[in-house]
Amino acid sequence: MPNISQRGVSMPASPIRKLVPLANKAKSKGVKVYHLNIGQPDLPTPEVAMEALKHIDRKVLEYSPSEGILSFRKKLVNYYATFNIHVDVEDIIITTGGSEAVLFSFMACLDPGDEIIVPEPAYANYMAFAISCGAVIKTIPSHIEDGFALPSIEKFEALITPRTKAILICNPNNPTGYLYTQKEMDQIRDIVKKYDLFLFSDEVYREFCYTDDPYISSFHLKGVENNVVLVDSVSKRYSECGIRIGAIITKNSQVRENVMKWCQARLSPPLIGQIIAEASLDTPKSYMTGVYNEYIQRRDFLIAGLNRIPGCYSPIPMGAFYTVAKLPVDDADKFCAWCLSEFEYEGQTVMMAPASGFYVTPGIGRNQVRIAYVLNKEDLKKALVVLEKALEAYPGRVL
Ligand SMILES: Cc1ncc(COP(=O)(O)O)c(C=O)c1O
Repeated sequence: MPNISQRGVSMPASPIRKLVPLANKAKSKGVKVYHLNIGQPDLPTPEVAMEALKHIDRKVLEYSPSEGILSFRKKLVNYYATFNIHVDVEDIIITTGGSEAVLFSFMACLDPGDEIIVPEPAYANYMAFAISCGAVIKTIPSHIEDGFALPSIEKFEALITPRTKAILICNPNNPTGYLYTQKEMDQIRDIVKKYDLFLFSDEVYREFCYTDDPYISSFHLKGVENNVVLVDSVSKRYSECGIRIGAIITKNSQVRENVMKWCQARLSPPLIGQIIAEASLDTPKSYMTGVYNEYIQRRDFLIAGLNRIPGCYSPIPMGAFYTVAKLPVDDADKFCAWCLSEFEYEGQTVMMAPASGFYVTPGIGRNQVRIAYVLNKEDLKKALVVLEKALEAYPGRVL
């Protein structure tokens, strides 16, 4: 039998999905599993999107242009302008989800052996996509004690080598929910400028910022306009994970030219998805405000509940819909698996993502989990009770 690729072997298993077989087994035994593990919003997709889907009136479901449908891209220009992000239609390339935007950005900018510096914990698929293109992720730990603020800029400088090609940030952050401040963004800008690096900026959670301060996009940073490659997606902001629409936005025409080669090779982003995403840009403000308020309430409820459980600690995340919490356990990987395979409370259990999968540095974050607050408050309340009971019963409890 021929050998499979080493590249595939070294791909990390998704920290979110690897417990799925255990969850399925628990469900098959009739246990109710509260999913705190995945960033799939439960809120209904906007009506304008559902109407567009129902009324698709086409004779042929053809390929769309490789860069995406022009009318959609034009409308996105106005959408970004509402966030003070001023781009032209040529700067926007539509992709098959933000996932493909990350992959194509890496492919277009990085050669095998090139290095990307990323604060950790980080969205696990960055590691997987870096492996896909032979790039090397170098991480700098951020810490729960200071709410996962940006590590000091000296730590970034210490990692810079002749192979360093990019800095990658996710703002607001998955998994930590951290939102970078103006000062931190300025520090990132300075280092990007000083070493002439790409700045990959994943801003798929832009709509979910819970401070009164203005949202800071990498596109707001002066003097690095040609370095910024922004990753975007409609998955989270309109509860549209299934339509698979994202985008790469960059003013760097060389990057766009390279990205387009991959876009052409994969022919077309999803046609139906783009029709729905374009219609979604007319989502009424009331929907966005409703969703926003709902997440704030859930966040407040979850964080207060977590911090009431003895031995648990979570900072207050200022963005996205996740938090990384510390639990009084020996090993969160073991604890999360144990919750699904050996524990239930009144026929219920919880599924969480062990934070180890979001770190590259071995051994850190071992007592941390990522919790997504994509459940309604009633279910969150029950999930918190189950978590507390699980922590009381877990044999590897450490206080
Ligand atoms: C930070 C971040 N970037 C990108 C993505 C990719 O999203 P999608 O491919 O659904 O657009 C996700 C999805 O969870 C994410 O959390």
